[in-house]
Amino acid sequence: MIRTEGLTRRFGDRTAVEDLTLEVEAGEVLGLLGPNGAGKTTTVRMLAGLLAPTSGRAWVAGHEVGREPGAIRPKVGFLPETPGFYKRLSVERNLRYFAQLYGVPQPQAAVRRVLERLSLWDRRGEAVATLSKGLRQRLGLARALVHEPQVLFLDEPTSGLDPESAREVREFIGELAGERRTILLCTHNLAEAEELSTWIAVLRTRLVALDRPGELKRRLSGSRILVDLANPRPEFTSLALPFVRGASLDGSVLAVDVEDPEREAPALVRRLVELGAEIQAVRREERTLEEVYLELVGRGDGAD
Ligand SMILES: Nc1ncnc2c1ncn2[C@@H]1O[C@H](COP(=O)(O)OP(=O)(O)OP(=O)(O)O)[C@@H](O)[C@H]1O
Ligand SMILES: [Mg+2]
Repeated sequence: MIRTEGLTRRFGDRTAVEDLTLEVEAGEVLGLLGPNGAGKTTTVRMLAGLLAPTSGRAWVAGHEVGREPGAIRPKVGFLPETPGFYKRLSVERNLRYFAQLYGVPQPQAAVRRVLERLSLWDRRGEAVATLSKGLRQRLGLARALVHEPQVLFLDEPTSGLDPESAREVREFIGELAGERRTILLCTHNLAEAEELSTWIAVLRTRLVALDRPGELKRRLSGSRILVDLANPRPEFTSLALPFVRGASLDGSVLAVDVEDPEREAPALVRRLVELGAEIQAVRREERTLEEVYLELVGRGDGAD
């Protein structure tokens, strides 16, 4: 549904996106993560046909981006970082304008449907200028959806929203995904990406990682086993097992770095029991997507 091949965009000497190749199937959600300036917005603007790539190609909904804009536009909805509206016109007039622009057959009915869906119908007569940020964001979603596109590009849909509004928008995105729409979601919110995405791409001008959220965590998860001991003793750190890279004791928790935790946990437990350890629990060190992400993008040093 979305495919890119070596997609690259330069602004003068600066490369914003380099050699991006990825594929998103129909009905999947791709979470696009990356530090400020990583090229997320540039990527969606290219895919939405608003910015020409310097090189490389992309296809959206079966059409090549840049070649058939007229064919792509009705199939794609775009929520930009800061959605623009005619601020002095009403909510409804704004949406009707966009519905007509997209050539929606019955614009009035479509506008009503989408406003009701986003709980904005009651505010349809108000000028956009008077809406709060959260309401304007919802209106942005309404605009991205008014022509019922199969593909959605959402650039930080929850940024700047209070926790409750952000949750509503997230739930709404979940609903859209449930309708088998294909969604590219740029976000800085890792929990959000994890909750909504089929795939997570980490961008830092180049693609740093692309995987399922769980797989990404697993692949990068420290290969560390934590053993809770009833009788912690320093000698338990001298295990003399070929696969153990290191072990340390912190209070009653023995942390053992191994090569493959799943394969090696049983042998480790046997050895500890031989040494007289009383084991209360054995667990894998859990890492959050945030830790994995920080490792991928390089802790504390941004792309700029
Ligand atoms: N129109 C432009 N002219 C010049 N440079 C640009 C332009 N648009 C983007 N850039 C540069 O390209 C790089 C990528 O920007 P982009 O907006 O795609 O990043 P982003 O990942 O969306 O960042 P953020 O998380 O801050 O939204 C940045 O260095 C940015 O300054
Ligand atoms: Mg951006």
